[in-house]
Amino acid sequence: MLNFSFVNPTQIHFGQGQIACLSSNIPQDTKVLVVYGGGSIKKNGVYEQVCEALNGHSWGEFAGIEPNPSYQTCMQAVDMVKQNGYDFILAVGGGSVIDGCKFIAAAALFDGEPWDILGKGAEVKSALPLGVVLTLPATGSESNSFSVVSNKDTNDKLPFATPLVQPKFAVLDPDVMKTLPERQLANGVVDAFVHTMEQYLTYPVNAKVQDRFAEGLLLTLMEEGPKVFDKDVSYDVRANVMWSATMALNGLIGAGVPQDWGTHMIGHEITAVYGLDHAQTLAIVLPRLMEEQKETKREKILQYAQRVLGLDTTNPDEAIALAIKKTEMFFHDVKMPTRLSDYGLGEEVADKIVLQLERHGMTALGEHQAVTLEKSRQILIRSV
Ligand code: NZQ
Ligand code: ZN
Repeated sequence: MLNFSFVNPTQIHFGQGQIACLSSNIPQDTKVLVVYGGGSIKKNGVYEQVCEALNGHSWGEFAGIEPNPSYQTCMQAVDMVKQNGYDFILAVGGGSVIDGCKFIAAAALFDGEPWDILGKGAEVKSALPLGVVLTLPATGSESNSFSVVSNKDTNDKLPFATPLVQPKFAVLDPDVMKTLPERQLANGVVDAFVHTMEQYLTYPVNAKVQDRFAEGLLLTLMEEGPKVFDKDVSYDVRANVMWSATMALNGLIGAGVPQDWGTHMIGHEITAVYGLDHAQTLAIVLPRLMEEQKETKREKILQYAQRVLGLDTTNPDEAIALAIKKTEMFFHDVKMPTRLSDYGLGEEVADKIVLQLERHGMTALGEHQAVTLEKSRQILIRSV
């Protein structure tokens, strides 16, 4: 097992009716900016619950953070924070709203051009405190320190990370999932699944706890994921999917193990250029990246085949091929396409995305830095 330091300071309030606990979790003497997206929270009762819980607080709101939050929109919120003296940010939404709020929280106190936080990796020295009401289980952003923000003018979709933007608390009420359209349910299950794979499907370091936690998450997502689309889906199915998504990227399963993230880096570029949803890109890239890296990932793919998929591994090459196929079939089970051609895209994607990867220094991806630009090109060509 590799060395690690681990802490996850985000307090989770999980379950029905938990939005009410905002009243006691946000300090009374703060001025709160409630930030949300395109308005889904006004159609499912979440907005009302937030208003009621904040009854005793001084607060205002900023609406309109878009999927794949843009630097441009976030900066409008930063201006509002500065003009009105808000000193607590409450993100109410999915990964995009939460990531946008992390950037707003950092940019509001940043000395200099805030784009440098993303574009140049400029150090964040302080940030406003942030709380979250999660409405879409997918990214894990509600209890981690990562954020991904896009610059619409330049086709850049770039991450930054600092413990300073880790949410103080996150409210997870599985009932909020009732209004999620199929496309977002699919996105959520696939993103959580791929987050787990990026931290599991590398090479063995004898990290038994991490491996078995990861396998538990993969099994849960495979078992419960397809059920979230049922008309009479139960509270428990939603709860299990929601908690899996949070646990998949809160630092626990990734502590002390090698990590890949190649699928994500290629996927972010596809979103930046072609606008596909984040998880749509992952379902396209992961099976092809597994194929491309099947020798370096051999031992872990076989472990996955045996323990998660229950496959016979007596013939290892056959088992690996079947494991990749079954992974793709699982994505189809949760109504997620797995080919660029499903979105009307072809081989032309490869050149464009390779250029983007090069521009962003993503020239050696994966746990061994073995995915060169040429390998990324092959992965993309095979993804058609
Ligand atoms: O904007 P509204 O109207 O709220 O609608 C949203 C949005 O259109 C809708 N939605 C959310 N909750 C809903 C709902 N509709 C009905 N009922 C609800 N309860 O869903 C749409 C998509 O929302 P979005 O927040 O974009 O989705 P997601 O949570 O998948 O977030 C994706 C973003 O997170 C980043 C991605 O790159 C992408 O930008 N990621 C963040 C990570 C992190 N911070 O750790 C890691 C991930 O790998 C990922 O990169
Ligand atoms: Zn992701």
